[in-house]
Amino acid sequence: AINEPLKVMISGAPASGKGTQCELIVQKFGLVHISTGDLLRAEVAAETDIGVKAKEYMNTGRLVPDEIVTSMVRARLSLQDAKEKGWLLDGYPRTSAQAQSLGELGIRPDVYIVLEVPDEILINRCVGRRLDPMTGKIYHIQSFVPETAEIKERLVTRPDDTKDKVRNCFSTSTLLLVPLTVETYDRVISRLEIYKSNVEAVLTTYKNVMKKIDGNRPKEVVFEDIKSLLSPVLDEKMKAATTG
Ligand code: AP5
Repeated sequence: AINEPLKVMISGAPASGKGTQCELIVQKFGLVHISTGDLLRAEVAAETDIGVKAKEYMNTGRLVPDEIVTSMVRARLSLQDAKEKGWLLDGYPRTSAQAQSLGELGIRPDVYIVLEVPDEILINRCVGRRLDPMTGKIYHIQSFVPETAEIKERLVTRPDDTKDKVRNCFSTSTLLLVPLTVETYDRVISRLEIYKSNVEAVLTTYKNVMKKIDGNRPKEVVFEDIKSLLSPVLDEKMKAATTG
């Protein structure tokens, strides 16, 4: 048995591919996936008190107040499955206050992954992203099309990615393949700016275990890099458990 399971954090700008890679990491390493975005979206869908508060922040692309998110993450990390199987924390910590809260609890990752993707690609990914509300699986209207017509039928756009008024943003970059709307563009840019204004403080906290990965490659290629980062760490832990 592993005494000390694997503990991983994954970060990156909105649409850098965190959720997509987490799916593959969970399949391979069996970690408990804790995504603050997913936890908050579930609260919103269930119309809980937290959900009602979180909704207005999320829909406009702003960060939900630290105390709400932090208590949610603390509760989730303290459950038995996370302690036994190890965890994959996705989208948290996002601010220096959040990183500090984890530090106070003595919670540190073995590896801190940062997915790096250029801004213009991120915008295109946000606009083309679709979510399967039944399975939580993430698709893209161009790069990851749904497997069946039935899945395609039920796909939804996330409110923080949605569009209503038409705006031609093709001039922003030749890489933008999907026409943007005022709303979409503003929300996505706002999420990017918020990410950029917080990222340095969080990176500093985990500098000694941080690994930057080029996220602007096919998802399988990105995952190969992640796998070759995590496998040796896991092997070491298993060795320590059998010898110690
Ligand atoms: P959250 O859900 O964490 O959103 P985010 O950081 O904006 O990240 P995304 O989910 O947008 O992107 P992702 O990196 O997971 O990319 P994905 O795999 O989907 O948070 C949402 C909101 O909740 C926040 O704005 C905030 O309000 C609140 N919140 C969450 N955590 C918080 C915290 N700690 N504190 C306060 N508030 C918090 O991929 C994107 C698209 O690209 C998909 O269509 C996918 O198919 C495609 N794609 C993925 N990989 C590739 C690839 N390699 N090549 C081509 N396309 C790809």
